[in-house]
Amino acid sequence: ALVVRRQMQSSGKWAKAEAILRELEDKCGAPTAKLQQVADAMTVEMHAGLASEGGSKLKMLISYVDNLPTGDETGLFYALDLGGTNFRVMRVQLGGKEGVIKQESEEVSIPPHLMVGSSHELFDFIATALAKFVATEGEEFHLPAGKQRELGFTFSFPIRQLSLASGTLIKWTKGFLIEDAVGEDVVEELTKAMERVNLDMRVAALVNDTVGTLAGGKYSNPDVIAAVILGTGSNAAYVERAHAIPKWQGLPPKTGEMVINMEWGNFRSSHLPLTEYDISLDAESLNPGEQLLCRRTCVRLLSFFFWLMEQIFEKLVSGMYLGEIVRRVLCRMAEEASFFGDIIPPKLKIPFILRTPDMSAMHHDSSSDLKVVGSKLKDILEVPNSSLKMRKMIIEICDIVTSRGARLAAAGVLGILKKIGRDTLKEGDNQKSVIALDGGLFEHYTEFRNCMSSTLKELLGEVAEYIVIELANDGSGIGAALLAASHSQYLEVQES
Ligand code: GLC
Repeated sequence: ALVVRRQMQSSGKWAKAEAILRELEDKCGAPTAKLQQVADAMTVEMHAGLASEGGSKLKMLISYVDNLPTGDETGLFYALDLGGTNFRVMRVQLGGKEGVIKQESEEVSIPPHLMVGSSHELFDFIATALAKFVATEGEEFHLPAGKQRELGFTFSFPIRQLSLASGTLIKWTKGFLIEDAVGEDVVEELTKAMERVNLDMRVAALVNDTVGTLAGGKYSNPDVIAAVILGTGSNAAYVERAHAIPKWQGLPPKTGEMVINMEWGNFRSSHLPLTEYDISLDAESLNPGEQLLCRRTCVRLLSFFFWLMEQIFEKLVSGMYLGEIVRRVLCRMAEEASFFGDIIPPKLKIPFILRTPDMSAMHHDSSSDLKVVGSKLKDILEVPNSSLKMRKMIIEICDIVTSRGARLAAAGVLGILKKIGRDTLKEGDNQKSVIALDGGLFEHYTEFRNCMSSTLKELLGEVAEYIVIELANDGSGIGAALLAASHSQYLEVQES
């Protein structure tokens, strides 16, 4: 009788786990028609965000970059890239038509306490590391006597720019939360910190990583029209016609164009396929949407609360969150279907313990007994034994969560193409549209990358032939240096 009961319990457990899985698949479904709706909604929001400040949750920030690098830039320039768990310092010697003559860079990891500490501490840390890097400048880099070093500052958070070289922080995203920096001019903060460490350097351009990637991408391929980041966070920038930006109050740019930082991470639409896991993830994140008293208890019932969520698109597609969504699904399976046996593995309760690179490693496990999945479960969640059936189900969860993210990212790209009229074929115009893509998620998560590319083909039909996605590896550093060069304080002197 005991054996029979055990068998019944076991089959009940699998049936329950299977039901949770099918529900996930159903809620995450993003068929072509839905993606078209998402893309259309993106286009509508883009119009609204360009029409007026606050016109949409999609901020459509003006970058003040109205001319992208020409290839004539020369001289020594520095770049600083802050936006993830590491920051990067870089120097490049630009040789005009010869391109980048020499470049050197260094990556510094940011101690986690500085990501949630004070502005002063963070900028001091950055300026100190930058000063150390400058001190190692070799003779192959050439700064003419009497000139000040100049820097392109890539700051990958939403900034309301006041000019190309100044801007105030609107809010933090991803894993950062330093309250006293919100509303402050980050260039001023960095400049003061550089003065404190006696570093004589001027910030010539403040750019988002998407804008830097667009500039770097365009430098190597003139057909680049947009840049997308799929890394810890996700965002896009593109070249817009100035007359299509009603909220732009300044003089019309000479080129008639302006780069727009969309901040698409904050895009929202009722067409987005959402689950209870996304809503609870948002509620418990560092940057939750508006809180309601009963929110946590209402999560399962009131999934329409999505409109209260913050950075919702980013939380569905980017590297910081995919692994965490999988962990949340596994938690529910452990609690409701005893997926890992009678006890819930205590490690499984720790938010963000399952990182997207680990999820990716499991997802790509091609061994017949799925041993990578087994060893990740053991190493990360301290689950000593796992059956093949369990491992297969886990891969399925990874696949569902990743496919949804990749398909939505493709819909986002389609939204941009629609906005600038590159989603249809025009007589006599077979120009290629290249999207520069950067970020660890796209670069390293093959299933994500493949799914995004095939979805884009599916959405574009015959136009797909003219749309190219190009991996722009670390293009944002070079892009920021190039923008610093094209906005150097010595430029007019040189020209005259
Ligand atoms: C977040 C930031 C955005 C950045 C993106 C990719 O969405 O808000 O500014 O471009 O991450 O790093």
